Amino acid sequence: MAMDGPKQLLMALCAAAAVGVTSVIFVLIWVFNYKEGLAWDGGLAEFNWHPVLIVFGFIAVQGFAIIVYRLPWTWKWNKQVMKFIHAGLHLLAFILVVISLVAVFDFHNYAKIPNMYSLHSWLGLMAVILFSQQLVIGVCLYLLPVLPVFWRAAFMPIHVYSGLLLFTSVIAVALMGITEKLIFGLSNPKYKDSPPEAIFVNVLGLLLVLFGALILWIATRTSWKRPSDQNLHILHTNGGGEDNTKRGTALSQLSDQSDVALGDVNKSD
Ligand code: HEM
Ligand code: HEM
Repeated sequence: MAMDGPKQLLMALCAAAAVGVTSVIFVLIWVFNYKEGLAWDGGLAEFNWHPVLIVFGFIAVQGFAIIVYRLPWTWKWNKQVMKFIHAGLHLLAFILVVISLVAVFDFHNYAKIPNMYSLHSWLGLMAVILFSQQLVIGVCLYLLPVLPVFWRAAFMPIHVYSGLLLFTSVIAVALMGITEKLIFGLSNPKYKDSPPEAIFVNVLGLLLVLFGALILWIATRTSWKRPSDQNLHILHTNGGGEDNTKRGTALSQLSDQSDVALGDVNKSD
């Protein structure tokens, strides 16, 4: 049975959307039902913006931004539009992450808790800094028409690798943060006594891992890649269909290489 046909792509997309939305609902229930809710007052309710904006912005929005080129109904849209959506969603994720960091630093300063002492905070800040670099380099390489096509094509495997590495690291850092918060926050009963909040938030951690696994699966299937604009034309005039989609993808990879040789700026990325 083919694991990478168009039907499986739709199933994987629906599963990723369902798990992503459920994770966001879980973090909101955690904060409103078990914790102090949300506020901007220097207290624990301000801290709570940190996990909420991370799960929504850095995990759900970033995950969606990564697989946006893989949505089959957008394949007939202009590639430039898709690039703006991909870049815009990553920019939105970055803005939400910065607000989530302001919330946690503000909370620490207010409560006179030292800053940047944990491995979680070190890895977290590194991930945010590298993410901002990826964003700037992405804009310079693929949105602004300044660099020669050769550079665009040469950097694409690095862009994809570092994007997937960052996304995976962000989930790992979030799992560390969740564990810290459960250890700090649960006192009577403690985390080790498995109160309902501990079980609920452990499940949130599982959902984040599952979401990451689905996004990585979708983003690494070569036959689910967006066919190049040129091959979309061939697909449409042939009537589309499963086999044609696959052929379109294979052709798209071939033509990606020949585009570089031909120096076609629009199709090398
Ligand atoms: C991957 C996304 C995340 C990043 C980039 C991140 C980043 C940070 C940073 C830089 C700090 C240090 C703040 C300071 O020193 O004043 C921090 C603290 C903290 N974060 Fe996160 N965080 C993330 C996810 C989470 C999540 C999902 C939770 C769950 C509740 C969490 C819980 C905490 C806690 C409890 C602290 C205070 C203790 C400490 O400094 O380690 N974090 N985070
Ligand atoms: C931190 C920000 C970013 C991250 C984490 C990121 C991550 C990724 C990942 C994982 C892929 C592979 C997706 C796939 O194969 O379907 C990708 C593809 C791509 N990205 Fe980004 N990206 C970022 C920013 C940008 C920006 C600002 C641009 C500028 C337009 C850009 C342009 C592209 C292009 C053109 C592709 C290739 C799409 C294709 O294969 O058809 N990226 N990015």
